Amino acid sequence: MAEEKTEEIIQHNPEKEALRDILKEVASEIQKVVDKIPNISPDEKKIKVDENYPEVQSQMSTTGYFGFWGGLVEKNHPVFSQSVNIERTLPIIKNLKIPTQIRNQGFGSKIVETWEKTFQKYGINVFAVTNIKSYYQDDQEKRAIDFWKKQGYIIPESEKRKDWPYYMIKVAQP
Ligand SMILES: CC(C)(COP(=O)(O)OP(=O)(O)OC[C@H]1O[C@@H](n2cnc3c(N)ncnc32)[C@H](O)[C@@H]1OP(=O)(O)O)[C@@H](O)C(=O)NCCC(=O)NCCS
Repeated sequence: MAEEKTEEIIQHNPEKEALRDILKEVASEIQKVVDKIPNISPDEKKIKVDENYPEVQSQMSTTGYFGFWGGLVEKNHPVFSQSVNIERTLPIIKNLKIPTQIRNQGFGSKIVETWEKTFQKYGINVFAVTNIKSYYQDDQEKRAIDFWKKQGYIIPESEKRKDWPYYMIKVAQP
């Protein structure tokens, strides 16, 4: 039922169509970056736009060796709109996973930069990330929050009292 409703909105709402076009461009730009990452099978790093939901993801975004998932949050979202003014949509990255042996070579930050820069062409300048305390439990991975700080993301006031924030936000310069 919920699935049918989402599909209908995407198909008949011009704004949704416009955002879908932006997502397709985002996916294609990220694909160019991801194609250059060595030693991952082409299947695993194939980036696709979901047909039914406003999201972009790698084929095995949560279980695989490499992973990417990004989506769009609607205006008036009860959680995110507490700390950011969502003018049109809020692009959000939930999962970004770079294979251990090729971390710290700039691939993660390049993917994030490409995601943001493509939306910025369309005047979308506010971004978010969740799952900062990822489900990958080694010590190095628990510090992903510092990776996001280096990309310009901050912990909003509403999240500061938590041991781990649910999300971080970035307001980029237009
Ligand atoms: C977080 C992650 C995606 C970073 O990818 P990456 O390709 O290694 O990052 P980059 O090489 O682009 O690093 C950019 C900067 O962030 C720093 N950084 C990267 N990962 C970091 C981490 N876990 N903790 C602290 N700093 C980190 C790098 O040292 C680098 O700093 P510099 O610019 O001063 O040299 C990667 O570590 C990962 O896959 N982690 C496990 C999954 C995870 O926790 N994802 C986050 C959930 S959204």
